[in-house]
Amino acid sequence: MDLERLNKRIAEVEAEVASSLPDVTTADALRTLDTAVLGKKGSLGSLLGNIRDYPGDQRGQVGQLVNKAKARIKATLDARLAELQSADIAAEQSQAESYDPTLPGIPKPMGSVHPVTAVQWDVERLFERLGFTVEAGPEMESEHNNFEALNIPATHPARDMQDTFFLVNKMVLRTHTSPVQHRSMKKFGAPLRVIAPGRCFRYETLDASHENTFHQIEGLMIDENISLPNLIALSQMLLREVMQRDVKLRVRPGYFPFVEPGIEIDMNCEICGGSGCPTCKNSGWVEILPAGMVHPKVLAAGNIDTEKYTGFAFGLGLTRLAMMKYGIRDIRVLNSGDLRPIVSPMRLGGPIIAGEGLS
Ligand code: PHE
Repeated sequence: MDLERLNKRIAEVEAEVASSLPDVTTADALRTLDTAVLGKKGSLGSLLGNIRDYPGDQRGQVGQLVNKAKARIKATLDARLAELQSADIAAEQSQAESYDPTLPGIPKPMGSVHPVTAVQWDVERLFERLGFTVEAGPEMESEHNNFEALNIPATHPARDMQDTFFLVNKMVLRTHTSPVQHRSMKKFGAPLRVIAPGRCFRYETLDASHENTFHQIEGLMIDENISLPNLIALSQMLLREVMQRDVKLRVRPGYFPFVEPGIEIDMNCEICGGSGCPTCKNSGWVEILPAGMVHPKVLAAGNIDTEKYTGFAFGLGLTRLAMMKYGIRDIRVLNSGDLRPIVSPMRLGGPIIAGEGLS
């Protein structure tokens, strides 16, 4: 190739680069073009490979021509690269500008506390102020703790009062929270103030007021000179705390083998206001707080000195109280996964439950 043809070839290559540049829109494509032109085997780079074909006195000139062309093309490619990079930054910027941080967020449904939990917290808050500790007992309980320790021997007709889910190995699903009375007496001795909220289970046919799974809060206070008026006064405080106003109560005798005397504390039905409805079985009253003075046999089974101490116990129908507070007519709603929120102030931090859990 003579010098004239070499010059022509260089001009051709530069023209090709110039015409293909507008189609190069990414840095990668630009690198490919760079190698295709300037690389050793590239359209320009390869021209240097033939330098030995030129007479010795022309070789310097050939080298200069090709290297200068190389530098020009390199500069063109670099300029294009800078162009592409600044376009990328501009695109990113305009994307960032299209984001408006003042737009309202996408609303998420709010979680809320189950009505039974909300009332449980109300009760816990009151009793913690009164110096009670909150205990938890296991839902799977021994027959002994659920019955015998509470003065209900196997042959006692009172066993029929509570339809029981019997498990293997003399265990049951606890039918009430009263076994925690026995557990707490053995654990702490007297004097004693505990409440024990928890789930209970009975083999019931479901209807608007019966569930096989429901919640109670057991209460137990043992000290010197405890008597029935203490219990009634406390019941009034309890219901006032939950309902946030004075509640009309009715006290009548009740029978439970683990208390003597036993009483039933009823509250005015909040669903119908006392005029009678299916929830209160048309009586205008709802059984909310079975209670009584702890039977000496139960104290003795818990190693409490019956000469020195007396105590009262109650088994608050937590599920029923939650229904009264929130006007829930059908108990089955509570275990149904209905997520409608209740309107109630929530206590920060949740409940404080000490004790042995489900072990
Ligand atoms: N455990 C009883 C029940 O569930 C209620 C109760 C508790 C009664 C404490 C008296 C004292 O039926």
